[in-house]
Amino acid sequence: MVGNQVKLNANGQDFDYPVLSGSVGPDVIDIRKLYAQTGMFTFDPGFTSTASCESALTYIDGDEGVLLHRGYSIEQLSEHSSFMEVSYLMLNGELPSKAELSDFSHTITRHTMLHEQLATFYRGFRRDAHPMAIMCGVVGALSAFYHDSTDIADPMQRKIASHRLIAKMPTIAAMAYKYSVGQPFMYPDNNLSYTGNFLRMTFGVPAEEYEVVPAVEQALDRIFILHADHEQNASTSTVRLAGSSGANPFACIAAGIACLWGPAHGGANEAALNMLKEIGTPDKIPHYIERAKDKNDPFRLMGFGHRVYKNYDPRATVMQKTVREVLAALKVNDPIFDVALQLEEMALNDPYFIEKKLFPNVDFYSGIILSAIGFPTTMFTVLFALARTVGWVAQWNEMISDPGQKIGRPRQLYTGPTQRDYVPLSSR
Ligand code: ACO
Repeated sequence: MVGNQVKLNANGQDFDYPVLSGSVGPDVIDIRKLYAQTGMFTFDPGFTSTASCESALTYIDGDEGVLLHRGYSIEQLSEHSSFMEVSYLMLNGELPSKAELSDFSHTITRHTMLHEQLATFYRGFRRDAHPMAIMCGVVGALSAFYHDSTDIADPMQRKIASHRLIAKMPTIAAMAYKYSVGQPFMYPDNNLSYTGNFLRMTFGVPAEEYEVVPAVEQALDRIFILHADHEQNASTSTVRLAGSSGANPFACIAAGIACLWGPAHGGANEAALNMLKEIGTPDKIPHYIERAKDKNDPFRLMGFGHRVYKNYDPRATVMQKTVREVLAALKVNDPIFDVALQLEEMALNDPYFIEKKLFPNVDFYSGIILSAIGFPTTMFTVLFALARTVGWVAQWNEMISDPGQKIGRPRQLYTGPTQRDYVPLSSR
């Protein structure tokens, strides 16, 4: 590196590329002119060394286990803030005043109802459909209901679309659950908090009053905060890529939901709880640890490891504390929690996991809390999608407002056949 330039010698010729610095974190080499100047691409499958955009939303230091939203640590936000406040922060860049928070919460509350025709849409799904399949379909279908939001060049329409998405996600998620258990859909209750309302729409029934348990409401709100955003992860990059073509925001978020569903991403909390249940008792832990280390066995410790965190995921620390609080509040004694604690301890002392810097991630403990609250495993990723919608819309807004925004179009290293002549069927 020379000054704030990096020198590249390609085909015997020197080229200089500027080095850009963010407010914190690694510098980046600006290679936008690389292809034009050298005729070469960079090769980075999985984007392990590639910054795809500029962003002021979330900062992660994976080596130190730091996660900041708009500069505020996840520990402080999850301890002192609320999901509504974090949503405002992500969308607007600053913490709200009392009046701003009240106004924002009011706006979100007033957008929680769905168009009544959407209820009909649900009935087209098989009743045993996975709620994530329903989420993909219903959120995508919102684009057919809100034509006005297709003018994404208008900041006001973008704002309304963002508010609609944040507000309607709990209703859509709760309805997906209700549909799967064959209970009537519950309409939102504007007297409740964002999270309290979601709990009532999920677990309440029209036949009786539903009482929100404050400890559960608080824990779930905290889980939503922990999942609100996580910089350029797979689903967020999917939303950005889909949005980069100018697509309708509801369709873009549906694309993000589809990506989140995978077991290597948001589906890991479902997979982690299933794994803990399969392990069942502490005496079986060593067997599963050996399987995770065996290269010939596809088994991995679900809820362990992270592309960015090479230290304890700070969200997992908060999550572990929250499990204790929820289990105590609900007076649940879950033997699976003991299995999780012992598995964590054993893995963290095992040379394989130490050497590869594999630590518990946010998904390791979240399933235990969600299960104690009463959510079936199929709903876990749905809750993740609900919370991550805030990050997705904030990132989408940031991208569209960027004057330098371009359609996302990666290149490739082609390894297929070179040009050849077509052979007629009769001659093959
Ligand atoms: N159990 C056992 N070994 C693991 C695990 C694990 N959970 N995670 C990674 N490793 C090993 C890999 O086998 C690999 O070993 P090698 O170098 O000998 O080949 C090495 O650690 C690096 O793993 P990669 O898969 O190359 O790392 P990558 O950054 O691509 O993957 C991922 C990260 C997908 C999260 C991975 O750790 C994993 O599959 N974890 C389990 C699934 C999970 O919990 N996902 C949730 C992620 S958090 C989220 O989405 C909210």
